[in-house]
Amino acid sequence: MRDLDVKGKRVFVRVDFNVPLSDGRVMDDSKMLAALPTLHYLVEADARVIVASHLGRPQGKIVDSLRMDPVARRLSELLGQRVEKADYVAGEELEARIQQLAPGSILLLENVRFDPGEEQNDPAFAASLARLADIFVNDAFGTVHRAHASNSGIAAYLPAVAGLLMEREISYLNRSKENPVRPLVAILGGRKVADKIGVIRHFLEQVDSLLLGGAMANTFLKAQGYPLGKSLYEEDKVDVAAELLQEAQEKLAEIVLPEDVMIVEELKAHAASRVVKVSEIPAGWMAVDIGPVTVKRFETIIREAKMVLWNGPLGAYEYPPFNRGTEQIARALAEAGAETIVGGGDIMAALEKIGLAHKMTHLSTGGGAVLDFWEGKPLPGLEAINHDPKNIYSTDSRE
Ligand code: 3PG
Repeated sequence: MRDLDVKGKRVFVRVDFNVPLSDGRVMDDSKMLAALPTLHYLVEADARVIVASHLGRPQGKIVDSLRMDPVARRLSELLGQRVEKADYVAGEELEARIQQLAPGSILLLENVRFDPGEEQNDPAFAASLARLADIFVNDAFGTVHRAHASNSGIAAYLPAVAGLLMEREISYLNRSKENPVRPLVAILGGRKVADKIGVIRHFLEQVDSLLLGGAMANTFLKAQGYPLGKSLYEEDKVDVAAELLQEAQEKLAEIVLPEDVMIVEELKAHAASRVVKVSEIPAGWMAVDIGPVTVKRFETIIREAKMVLWNGPLGAYEYPPFNRGTEQIARALAEAGAETIVGGGDIMAALEKIGLAHKMTHLSTGGGAVLDFWEGKPLPGLEAINHDPKNIYSTDSRE
């Protein structure tokens, strides 16, 4: 973005302002804070700034609770300047309004996913977005894995560049992939193995230790033959988990699974709990967090690491105190001398809650985007700005 002259130009900035809302207020503005450097830069350079994002999954329809008004209000506060809000994402009226936009001012568009053309990456919709602007800046790392009109298709019609957040995200993540310092440790948690099979395979080749927690670890414990009581696990992924454990024998990475867990009879906040070995989960009980022996083992590995990558909580994070394992590991990371690259909203929230977010080397705004990056999947939002625009659509479908 810094290579272009943006003075007086209409610049369409795709951001990921997919933030949690409650009662018309933004509950967590960390993704918005991360995009401020790009917006400040463009305002100071006297660009006419058009900001666009999706919010939630309205499935191509107008959903009033997913309008961008609370986001516009919060953005005004964060920038210390008025942010205009449009009720549309495209159209002649909007084009005319943008022509009147003064240099250094900002207009936030309505939720781009209200138009079905967004998720279909419809060339006609992408062209109508492109008509609003002279330059396309993609700063939405969190949606870089989506091939949608406002973060991929639009690049066929405009000069397309990366914003400052995108640049920062990619340079840290590239470093973790291409030039890692060792020992390199990855921590994966969350519910589903299904979402992470590809990334686990990648890590088996890449990292020295792979620490697994959360409900996804249960599927691996099941594959090892442990009785799990009524713990969550994916029955249809037990075979894949067994295969991955087998593959790990011949690969670089050692898979480290929980040795003990916190168990409850009923999943609710502050439920009566016990700590047991993974081999001793009674019928009718379920694992909801890693236990103290596992925390110690993970901490020892983290202390020796030079680089740690982390995605996904290690327990039933939303039901305290079963967020404890995740928070203890977050503390260990903050105290470790390692470079720490952390992705995903739950971990970000955990780190912010305990005031340690600033101790991480890089907190990624991407959840699914980080996993796809680590796995090596194509990232359409990035390919669009890296490639000749002609390749995004066939010439027939271009306007
Ligand atoms: C996210 O919150 O991970 C991004 O905004 C992407 O949202 P999506 O999964 O609905 O595409």
